[in-house]
Amino acid sequence: TLLRADGVRGRAARRSRQIPIDTTCAGSGSPNDSMTILVTGGAGFIGSNFVLDWLADPATRGLPLVNLDALTYAGNLHNLDALRGDARHVFVQGDICERALLDRIFAEHRPRAVVHFAAESHVDRSILGPGAFIRTNVEGTFALLEAARAHWGALAGDARAAFRFLHVSTDEVYGSLASDAPAFTETHPYEPNSPYSASKAASDHLVRAWHHTYGLPVLTTNCSNNYGPFQFPEKLIPLMIVNALAGKPLPIYGDGQNVRDWLYVGDHCSAIREVLARGRLGETYNVGGWNEMANLEIVHTLCALLDELRPSAAGSHARLITYVKDRPGHDRRYAIDARKIERELGWRPAETFQSGIRKTVQWYLDNPAWIANVQSGAYRDWVARNYAGREARA
Ligand code: NAD
Ligand code: DAU
Repeated sequence: TLLRADGVRGRAARRSRQIPIDTTCAGSGSPNDSMTILVTGGAGFIGSNFVLDWLADPATRGLPLVNLDALTYAGNLHNLDALRGDARHVFVQGDICERALLDRIFAEHRPRAVVHFAAESHVDRSILGPGAFIRTNVEGTFALLEAARAHWGALAGDARAAFRFLHVSTDEVYGSLASDAPAFTETHPYEPNSPYSASKAASDHLVRAWHHTYGLPVLTTNCSNNYGPFQFPEKLIPLMIVNALAGKPLPIYGDGQNVRDWLYVGDHCSAIREVLARGRLGETYNVGGWNEMANLEIVHTLCALLDELRPSAAGSHARLITYVKDRPGHDRRYAIDARKIERELGWRPAETFQSGIRKTVQWYLDNPAWIANVQSGAYRDWVARNYAGREARA
């Protein structure tokens, strides 16, 4: 069954030559009718937002999911507190590198799709310790592809035609742009510059090869910087919010003029659902917010919002801005050309930066217990390690 269609969707669906994920009814009966999807990394920032949205969205909320997550420092089951007792959500703590575990999950749950978020995701950590990035992002993706291939290879008929492996990747694989260069399209050459982006690029290549060589029905999304609820405060936006609330310095790497494209996490999740439902097999889709901003501008925006919502007796939060030593190999600019996903699937972000960032700041203000919980000893050790030696500069 094709997804219920409006004009654009109907045209795209008719063009599509493969059977899309059926999100219109719950399957039952033979094991081949499973409606379950397997999500990896669903206790992390984007993964947990995806799981919550999947189970809330009218088009997919009847559809169960298995959430496989190793619960590294970045995984947090509190992100999923709202699902306690919800039988549609099965959580498995485990490592995507463990092939035997993957095979057991595929055999037991017979997922009709895999949505692969699990990764080491922080560039600064990849600089200080690249090994975990090669293991999870490259070897883990390889193990997952092989387990998915074995499962898919044994399917028949509609179940085989409907199976999908959606790989969630990043715009960082394309490298850094000059200030006047056009935004990344899906055909931009791969030029990864950090251990993180190199490991993601490697995983993208594996996914591509598993399609071309074995016919595995894959889809890849390359997304820009996400922000929103449940983001671990090692990344720019939540780090600045939690530091500002604590009256701590707001560390700006280099001159603060590095540019990123910013996307509200709920928009990323809706893009993934669209690609999963109707994306063309073997294709990649760039996902972005049409919102390029320099880091310093982001931090000033956050300070202004906090001045309004949580004023400090000590004065504007902007007084805490501190220039520190730059990130080694710091990419200057990323920008996403998201016209392909709009043209083919009718997807555009729903949030503006102004609406998304206000919601995000409000979420952190409303959730002090979540913040306190993630600021464990391990978190404090990371902050000490990453910011030591980045002496404040005038
Ligand atoms: P995150 O670091 O918040 O979460 C990663 C999750 O993966 C955690 O729950 C962690 O426990 C889990 N995990 C790590 N290693 C694992 C392993 N070996 N086995 C099983 N689970 C493991 O990351 P995020 O920001 O939510 O990013 C999710 C995905 O999206 C990543 O693949 C990332 O590369 C990609 N991405 C992120 C952004 C962004 O701005 N955050 C942008 C584009 C793409
Ligand atoms: O572009 C997509 C990528 O965005 C994702 O693939 C990554 O998983 C995600 O972490 C993110 O990578 P960045 O390196 O762009 O995000 P981060 O939040 O670490 O940094 C954003 C910018 O802010 C970057 O130019 C570095 C700068 N920065 C970051 C920190 C943590 C600072 O100036 N100070 C800081 O303390």
